Amino acid sequence: MADSSHAFGIDFGGSGIKGAPVDLSRGEFAADRIRIETPQPATPEAVAAVMHELVREAGLPKDAPVGVTVPGVVRRGTVLSAANIDRAWIGTNADALFTRTLERSVHVVNDADAAGYAEVRYGAAKDHAGLVIVTTLGTGIGSALVFGGRLLPNTELGHLEIDGHDAETKAANSVREKHDLSWEDWAQRLTVYYRTLEKLFSPDLFVVGGGVSKKADKFVHLIDVRTPIVPAELGNRAGIVGAALLARDEQQGAAPLA
Ligand code: BGC
Repeated sequence: MADSSHAFGIDFGGSGIKGAPVDLSRGEFAADRIRIETPQPATPEAVAAVMHELVREAGLPKDAPVGVTVPGVVRRGTVLSAANIDRAWIGTNADALFTRTLERSVHVVNDADAAGYAEVRYGAAKDHAGLVIVTTLGTGIGSALVFGGRLLPNTELGHLEIDGHDAETKAANSVREKHDLSWEDWAQRLTVYYRTLEKLFSPDLFVVGGGVSKKADKFVHLIDVRTPIVPAELGNRAGIVGAALLARDEQQGAAPLA
């Protein structure tokens, strides 16, 4: 995998830690994905141990770039927020921890940034030259802002305050599930959310990602906004593919991250 067209991506999620080698010329997995249950509690050390196991199973060469997603703000390798993960992550230098545990250079990025960057490079917003806002609707709401193919990292637009509430506590997919909302009722909440984004950013395109984008035909057409809005295309591959891509770009000194 030492050539620069391949890198390894790892997606750290609430239930599973998943990794795969990625062929960056196509944005596709170069081998089967490996999945290991997320340890409970998912402290940084416990998660690092699982990632070590995953990389060992994959038999990676030492010089392969490795990218890891974390569902929180990641600034120069350090995790700065933990809305839906163990609080112990806050202040952890995850780049350093994983680089030490995995005995190779690791680049850590926000999960939605990875997914959004992958959608612009290979998926629903491929080669879009304008302002694209990718949102991931899951346990929380993640966001990625990409303009002219460049990522503005850590936008955290899931935490916009709308009508006095943290937006993701009203409109995330987990809220739809918890309250058993109909697709119509959820779409109304999403309309309020995307209209707010539209008012603030005037984007050229919204991409709706997260696991629920598999069921896009049930709700995306019900979201009433002026901006074109389309489902993500990479499904649950987006995080892994984006993390691998960002790790390769970082190794080449071209990463768009702050
Ligand atoms: C976190 C973001 C993350 C998003 C999706 C939010 O609660 O603050 O950093 O990208 O959830 O996982």
